[in-house]
Amino acid sequence: MTKLIIILSAQILLLAGVASAGDGGDFARTTYQKHPAFKKEEKLTHLHFYWHDSTKGRNPSSVMIQQPVSNSSLFGSITMTDDPLTTDEPKNSTVVGHAQGIYAGASQGEIGFLMVLNFAFSTGKYNGSTISVLGRNTVFSKVREMPVVGGSGMFRFASGYVKVRTKSFDSKTGEATVEYNCYVVHY
Ligand SMILES: *[C@@H]1O[C@H](CO)[C@@H](O)[C@H](O)[C@H]1NC(C)=O
Ligand SMILES: *[C@@H]1O[C@H](CO)[C@@H](O)[C@H](O)[C@H]1NC(C)=O
Ligand SMILES: *[C@@H]1O[C@H](CO)[C@@H](O)[C@H](O)[C@H]1NC(C)=O
Repeated sequence: MTKLIIILSAQILLLAGVASAGDGGDFARTTYQKHPAFKKEEKLTHLHFYWHDSTKGRNPSSVMIQQPVSNSSLFGSITMTDDPLTTDEPKNSTVVGHAQGIYAGASQGEIGFLMVLNFAFSTGKYNGSTISVLGRNTVFSKVREMPVVGGSGMFRFASGYVKVRTKSFDSKTGEATVEYNCYVVHY
């Protein structure tokens, strides 16, 4: 664990070049460092986007496929999502990909979701690449953190974390906008 922290700190201190994606706005920024053993460039990419969850209305992008056993904690519920990810907070800003996966009520005392997600990107050089997130999301906490457990395409060997903040939530319309900051180490 200590070793990992030292490696991660070193990565952040030794950042070399900086490049950013041209397409889909500047939602991703990459820095590079040569891996000492691998002879491959290790990259730290910061991705910033907004997730739009919509559970009601004509075309919800999230559907509850299993009802909860408790309406207060949503414990036992399972929701399938295919939510758009955009460059900016308005829902009509540029779509860079979709969050496809499941969130499930896993906490009896509060709303605490088990998140099992693939971020499927559809923009520029990231088109077709994915990042996988598996973590705990207590949606009423100001900031939540979840691990990045893997990736594909541009994000092979991905590891890292996401920091998540709810920007707006309307229980009447079932619309939520959540800001995602992803820090991903990959090759
Ligand atoms: C949760 O609320 C819905 C709608 O009000 C109701 O039909 C359902 O029985 C409730 N479930 C529990 C476990 O209380
Ligand atoms: C997005 O929607 C807002 C209001 O809902 C509107 O003012 C704006 O022009 C729209 N932007 C685009 C790019 O469509
Ligand atoms: C992304 O890739 C798909 C499949 O290869 C292709 O159909 C689509 O046009 C691409 N989109 C962009 C924005 O490059």
